[in-house]
Amino acid sequence: MKLLCTSDQLLEAQSRGFEINGRKLFATRRNGQVFVYDNRCPHRGVPLEWQPDQFLDPSASLIHCATHGALFLIESGECVAGPCEGRSLTGIASHEDHQGVWIETPASD
Ligand code: FES
Repeated sequence: MKLLCTSDQLLEAQSRGFEINGRKLFATRRNGQVFVYDNRCPHRGVPLEWQPDQFLDPSASLIHCATHGALFLIESGECVAGPCEGRSLTGIASHEDHQGVWIETPASD
């Protein structure tokens, strides 16, 4: 396991990008729970954010790909609108304790 960030670095409705062992990830928090995904759109394999640490749509209720506007459910990573509808982001197992947010160390591809 690897410590991704402290809990106060990822507040409700925020998102944050990371690079771990050369692999791009992002994390967001919704209803108190943290979700971590590969920062790679299933449409074209590109990073999702339009500027650093901005992975959500304006309502902060969906994950947004800046390239062609795909929208993904925060809880499952499933694309619900856009060119990759029905496909999903790759989730990364995580848990949170008093130290912060931990992830399973992803294998470098
Ligand atoms: S690359 Fe993400 S929607 Fe096309």
